[in-house]
Amino acid sequence: MPYSSAPSPFSPAAAPELVSPPSGAAKPRLTFLGTGYLGATYAICFAELGYEVLGVDVDADKIAKLSAGEPPFHEPGLDELLRANLAAGRLRFTTSYQEAADFGDVHFICVGTPQRDDGLSADLSYVEQAVTALAVALPRKALIVGKSTVPAGTAAWVQQLVDKHAKPEYEVEVAWSPEFLQEGHAVEDVLRPNRLVFAYESAWAGGMLYAAHKGVFDLAAAEDREVPVVTCNFATAELVKMAANSFLATKISFINAMSEVCEVTGADVTLLARAIGYDPRIGNRYLQAGVGFGGGCLPKDIRAFQARVQELGAGESLRFLHEVDLINQRRRTRVLKLAAQLLDRPFGPAGPDLSGTRIGVLGATFKPNTDDVRDAPALAVATLLHKAGADVHLYDPQGMENARTVLPDITYEPTMAAAVADSDLLCVLTEWTEFRNADPTVLGHLARAKVVIDGRNCLDPALWIAAGWDYHGMGRA
Ligand SMILES: NC(=O)c1ccc[n+]([C@@H]2O[C@H](COP(=O)([O-])OP(=O)(O)OC[C@H]3O[C@@H](n4cnc5c(N)ncnc54)[C@H](O)[C@@H]3O)[C@@H](O)[C@H]2O)c1
Repeated sequence: MPYSSAPSPFSPAAAPELVSPPSGAAKPRLTFLGTGYLGATYAICFAELGYEVLGVDVDADKIAKLSAGEPPFHEPGLDELLRANLAAGRLRFTTSYQEAADFGDVHFICVGTPQRDDGLSADLSYVEQAVTALAVALPRKALIVGKSTVPAGTAAWVQQLVDKHAKPEYEVEVAWSPEFLQEGHAVEDVLRPNRLVFAYESAWAGGMLYAAHKGVFDLAAAEDREVPVVTCNFATAELVKMAANSFLATKISFINAMSEVCEVTGADVTLLARAIGYDPRIGNRYLQAGVGFGGGCLPKDIRAFQARVQELGAGESLRFLHEVDLINQRRRTRVLKLAAQLLDRPFGPAGPDLSGTRIGVLGATFKPNTDDVRDAPALAVATLLHKAGADVHLYDPQGMENARTVLPDITYEPTMAAAVADSDLLCVLTEWTEFRNADPTVLGHLARAKVVIDGRNCLDPALWIAAGWDYHGMGRA
């Protein structure tokens, strides 16, 4: 039975017919299992699109914060949407899987899939726990949609888990729809995705998945946009996400490799990137040389991808990703080596001894506009400097609370000026607008020595040099 006859921008011939939700509600009720960067943003944005939504997490503190209208992380634009949708009564949060099972028609898996402690593979234990807890509690048919980034074969394994734990008469189904949101831009990416990837195995699952995204299509139609949908099998959907992140990581490591070559040839990687980026086949995005990529996705995804493909017998196909990872890791030690050189400390077999120096570090997050410090190059460099004996004073506009839990032993400063004060060396490691726009003359009066490493090539060298700074970018003559 059609769910709505409203026109949609996707081809009606290709799209399955929308189906009625098993709960009997007018539109499918949605749950998001895991309310981290992915799940909370989704829960809030889909409530904004008009769905009734329940966010579920095992972290009671996170659920309490969300229920009180406080996002547990920094994401531009999310606070207002959270509060508006809580007030509208469309959005709730819980730690109860029974409540989620009773409420929802479509359940999105949004839990973490971090790197395992004992190797490169993805840790799927959170997925297993979430799916099992939901499946045993389901009182009727439902669709479970994977959004977490997972290795090939996971969707089929999740269907097996569901078959094992849910009542067979409910014929609970699994679909997969990988997620491409970027932290710092996540609200826009969820409301207005540049594409959707859908994998499902029955017309009912397809119809329910489209019904669960009808708000996205309707918004696009109202704005005269199209949202391309790629429909594929489970393995393709799983690989799309891994392939996309591998490509992005490779592009960043490519330009960082060029940056290494620039340093030994006297070339300037920023001009090189600009020149090659004008070619539309190459493009200029993700082509900024610096301290490399980090975050909760790219590093662990390229490792999990290699590990899984190795298990499947095609390890050689992804051997280049090992090199991509190595180039990326080298960026972090590059800053340490440059710091030692600029501070006139020899770099021995155990690294440099930076004791007695004070280093100001600007940035802790893996990129601007987030508070996420997972595998952040900035924090990794701060750790290296600290371990080498430097007295590190760090400031970040949003990431200090998270940074403190990872690296408690350095000094966190309340302002950029305080981090720069009395420093023998300044390292700019995250390209926050506040740092880009900093006045080098003002900062120059605060520093003990006017020496700066621009780890993101985000400062204007001419301005800093004119203010008397000894400026060092990455891969710049
Ligand atoms: N963060 C991103 O930008 C992004 C983008 C695309 C895809 N992804 C993928 O999305 C997934 C989640 O990433 P994230 O950044 O949101 O991670 P996160 O660590 O911020 O959030 C994961 C959440 O899952 C919760 N959780 C753990 N076990 C649970 C369970 N059994 N039931 C309910 N909740 C549980 C945790 O408490 C946490 O709040 C990962 O697979 C990631 O690769 C993330």
